[in-house]
Amino acid sequence: METDPHGAGQTPTAALIAHILSRYHDTHRRELPELLALARKVETSHATDPNTPHGLTQALEAMIADLEEHMRREEEDVFATLATGDASAGEGIAGLRHDHEGHEAALNRIAAITHGFRLPSYACHSWARLYAGLGKLAEDLDEHRYLEDSVLFPRLQAGQ
Ligand SMILES: [Fe+2]
Ligand SMILES: [Fe+2]
Repeated sequence: METDPHGAGQTPTAALIAHILSRYHDTHRRELPELLALARKVETSHATDPNTPHGLTQALEAMIADLEEHMRREEEDVFATLATGDASAGEGIAGLRHDHEGHEAALNRIAAITHGFRLPSYACHSWARLYAGLGKLAEDLDEHRYLEDSVLFPRLQAGQ
């Protein structure tokens, strides 16, 4: 994972933040409500199927709430502070890194609940869309975290 396929290391900090907001924060906010609705639908309509991802709706709901609170803190406490040139932008970063570990743990739980996003052969369209969406979420979160933990946060902590 720890590569830099998009050349983000060369991107100026303000542009990097704008990219993180539009490509990841906005995307999560746009896509996660639909994933939650699909999870609810699949769990409800296949309630007695042993392959059903039992507990997914609840796990996803908790993760979405955590992620929203986390993104809000990044935006208000770190990204906005940086724009004002205030040196305190680096404060709170340890907490944000810690949150990222929590998101990874939540995603691991979701992967276990869905048997590694593996669809049964008879899965309906909604079920297929749900697992495809969760797979995309896992990829997006991985890239999002890489850009923050390995590119952006070290710059902020160095006061750049
Ligand atoms: Fe973020
Ligand atoms: Fe983050």
